[in-house]
Amino acid sequence: MAKKSRLQAPQGMHDVLGEDQPYFKRIWDAVNEIAHFYAFSKIDTPIAEYSELYEKGTGLTTDIVEKQMYAFKTKGGDALALRPEFTPGIVRAFIQHGMFSWPQPVKLYTYGPLFRYEHPQAGRYRQFNQFDFEVFGEQAAAIDAQVIQIFYTILKELKFGHLVVEVNSIGDYQCRPYYKKVLVNFLRPRQYSLCADCRRRIKENPLRVLDCKEEKCQRVKSQAPQVIDHLCEECKTHFKSLLEFLDEADLPYHLDPYLVRGLDYYTKTVFEIFSEGSIQQDQEGSQTVQRSALVGGGRYDALVRLMGGKDIPAVGAAAGVERIIALMKEKQLPAAEEPAPKVFLAQLGDLPKKKSLKLLEELRKAKINIAEALGRDSLRTQLARADKLEVAYTLILGQREVLDNTIVIRKMDTGEQETVKMEKVVEALKQRLRKS
Ligand code: HAM
Repeated sequence: MAKKSRLQAPQGMHDVLGEDQPYFKRIWDAVNEIAHFYAFSKIDTPIAEYSELYEKGTGLTTDIVEKQMYAFKTKGGDALALRPEFTPGIVRAFIQHGMFSWPQPVKLYTYGPLFRYEHPQAGRYRQFNQFDFEVFGEQAAAIDAQVIQIFYTILKELKFGHLVVEVNSIGDYQCRPYYKKVLVNFLRPRQYSLCADCRRRIKENPLRVLDCKEEKCQRVKSQAPQVIDHLCEECKTHFKSLLEFLDEADLPYHLDPYLVRGLDYYTKTVFEIFSEGSIQQDQEGSQTVQRSALVGGGRYDALVRLMGGKDIPAVGAAAGVERIIALMKEKQLPAAEEPAPKVFLAQLGDLPKKKSLKLLEELRKAKINIAEALGRDSLRTQLARADKLEVAYTLILGQREVLDNTIVIRKMDTGEQETVKMEKVVEALKQRLRKS
């Protein structure tokens, strides 16, 4: 088979053309508005960081670090990676800028592109966007609930109907080691019923087995002991309190005792948010049909310290923007509305064309949204364009008008034309647009 032309976007990466931009805009607008209301400050971190940051932060035995990192050596010999997620970069920035001495909690949010070398399929790309919210310096389960509520609210603002929050607690460094032992004791005799990756995971990171999407591993998982039955008092109380907050806030949740998330840093709360009818994806070679999470997050009370900072509790989450957009399209949810131009400028001849540039600028400054076709000469073509755009008025600037310092205003529905002085055109248009 002929090799695919290199002059294409890399596999799993996409151009975002004009028709998709209003979806992005709608999402960024909702994110900014809610972030502002809840007093989150925006942070932008570099697209590349030292690979070590993710090895330490995301975790050496996670799929992201083991299989999906775009890691490379710079010409100077630095080992960098394109960011596969935001959280470790934001924690690094928290430590680097001494944010533990800022008034707590420190609430940060961001959005932008991330990179994971995934097997591209519906809802899974190699370059994708997330919006991400993180809160540092708060222990209380109320904050976990608030983070969940923020993501839930953003999706509601985007007009998603039925949403379900899946929640679980995976304990902390007090109680999880014991649960891990219980889990390993359960998995070991069943290791030959697991995929090759999971057989390895039993030794390296047994909780990951619960996260595996292979059908045979899911069958074993469904019988496995549940972490929730092995929580210490502190984690139990925290989880109970979280559920009470979710009840009180009328957030519909479902307890998933096997939800562990694919990242190593979580303690206590983990959650994901799904929409009914989330993109369905077939697992290769298996019949299982998976829903894809729109949002994933949780608490990570030990990560700041692990990365060299102080003992600062934290909680956060991130949402996949492309997955949200795919569902918005599927459900025909509205994108951002671009204000349509109400006026068209048609010009005839060299001199009028030259005068048009300045006139367009005056109209822009007056906030009159105007369309034009400066590359065209024929009046018929330009009026046809104006008709297609369904503008209310067309300005016609011909040779004679330029010499007389006037311009013609044509009302498109009646064809009525009126000539006005050039210096009056902005005011004349404003008046007419106010009336129409
Ligand atoms: P995550 O579950 O890896 O969590 O990603 C969060 C969301 O990003 C997913 O639910 C999904 O919607 C989207 N996503 C992930 N991978 C892809 C992909 N390859 N293509 C398209 N969308 C994708 C994190 O990234 C954590 N940093 C979240 C977090 C923040 N936890 C605490 N704070």
